[in-house]
Amino acid sequence: MKKALIAIGIIVGTAYACQQNQKEAVSRSEVKHFDVSKYTGNINVDGRMIIAEVSKAFEEMYTEAIEKHGTVGAVDYCAENAFDLLDSLGHYYGVGLKRTSLRIRNPENKPDTLDLAVLNNMRNLGEEGVELTPMSMKFSGGDGILYAPIKMQPMCLQCHGIKMRGDIKDDVWAKIRERYPEDVAYDYNTNELRGIWGVYFPAEYWARKGRVDMPEM
Ligand code: HEC
Repeated sequence: MKKALIAIGIIVGTAYACQQNQKEAVSRSEVKHFDVSKYTGNINVDGRMIIAEVSKAFEEMYTEAIEKHGTVGAVDYCAENAFDLLDSLGHYYGVGLKRTSLRIRNPENKPDTLDLAVLNNMRNLGEEGVELTPMSMKFSGGDGILYAPIKMQPMCLQCHGIKMRGDIKDDVWAKIRERYPEDVAYDYNTNELRGIWGVYFPAEYWARKGRVDMPEM
């Protein structure tokens, strides 16, 4: 009897822990305050709102991970949690989310053909000194995608900065090489275009316009 109770305790405990984790991933940013009734049905307006929240959540993830685990530990933390965070935020908003780049660290973030076209276009515009802004397209099936530039900030240098300048410490470098032997996502300077966010809106998304309840998790 006692054994059975302990077993139930473990199962309930584990289920609870999982729920807690999920909650933590979403509440890491202020997205819980995001008012879905603000959905406008305009890809540019909604896309920009979502990007603003998602990039805030990622910056918080990096900052918190560095504070808690140091930069080396934060590499592990981000390697293990970046996709979950992207997934849970995507579910939350009812969109597909992607982070990609011309020079990637994680092979799973590899750009597809459309991503590549946008990345090249943004890089060229950037080189011409044009201020980079999000760009969107709608497809004939009613779905659509919004892309937004990801710029390098000072705090990103410790993991994506210029190697020769000593931005990336030796122990951080070793950890990155261990996790990602093919990594080419370094030698970036502050303000440089690091990559793009992709927000994919399925056709059903637009039916939610004006909805006040939360999209399903
Ligand atoms: C603690 C180290 C660390 C810091 C700080 C850091 N990153 Fe990363 N970054 C990583 C790791 C590890 C990955 C691969 C994780 C993944 O997405 O699977 C990654 C992946 C990325 C990607 C996805 C494309 C790719 O190369 O795989 C982008 C874009 C990116 N980082 C941008 C940034 C930006 C912008 C900042 C600053 C706001 C930043 N990173 C700060 C470690 C870091």
